Amino acid sequence: MIKQPIGIFDSGYGGLTILKEIVETLPQYDYLYLGDNARAPYGIKDFETVYEYTLQSVKWFFNQGCSLVILACNTASAKALRTIQQNDLPNIDINKRVLGVIRPTSEVIGTFSKSKHVGVLGTTGTVQSNSYVIEIDKFFPHITITQEACPEWVSLVENNQCASAEADHYVKMHIDQLLKKDNNIDTILLGCTHYPLLLNTIQQYTPKNISIVSQGKIIANSLQAYLTRHPQIELNCSKNGSRTFFTTGDSTDFNNHASLFYGEQIAANQVILP
Ligand code: DGL
Repeated sequence: MIKQPIGIFDSGYGGLTILKEIVETLPQYDYLYLGDNARAPYGIKDFETVYEYTLQSVKWFFNQGCSLVILACNTASAKALRTIQQNDLPNIDINKRVLGVIRPTSEVIGTFSKSKHVGVLGTTGTVQSNSYVIEIDKFFPHITITQEACPEWVSLVENNQCASAEADHYVKMHIDQLLKKDNNIDTILLGCTHYPLLLNTIQQYTPKNISIVSQGKIIANSLQAYLTRHPQIELNCSKNGSRTFFTTGDSTDFNNHASLFYGEQIAANQVILP
């Protein structure tokens, strides 16, 4: 059996915030990252489209030799993961695995809250899917979840406008709206992988007694636990510490922008998906 890199997928740059933490926790493995920048944002697209784009990307990872793919995108996890796991994987290869970010986040988010009131910020797609409400309820049935869609935030991040008057306006607006719906919230989950880039502004408009939780570390810990629980999958993961980046968009644009998310220079290759 040829040893394989772990695939990390996002609609664009956001998954790099997850990869960064995964690499810090599990540096020994090889990682292959794909951002579907040419077709981002996913957060405003319908179910069918997100599913179709995500499946194409997953198949691309499999063709590169990956057996384990993480959808490091909440929108893809909310809209495509279950169908891919239940309907597609049995026909493609029962030995392949695709994991998402919503379940591992839901498994632990309740431990951050004392008031038992948690706010979830996400894309319109993630919020409308209700995935967080459904998943968190399985692990923490006594927690009240209040969601707020922040449709402008991904574009602010993608367009390099994290420190701008628009960012101030839209961040304040959505934090205020969330806390107006439930003023007992003591924990806010950034349920979109782009949002950690707005953390400074989010902190500025959030009362100090409220904890703001990003997903990177949670996903990294969960992957570590998964590989420990599944030694036969772990054994097939190659361990040369390599990171290879691909984008469906312009690779020069990707390289210029990606370091903001990843914290290091990146040299990506362009890939064309069907
Ligand atoms: N980063 C994706 C997520 O976590 C959303 C970005 C997009 O809308 O494409 O949901």
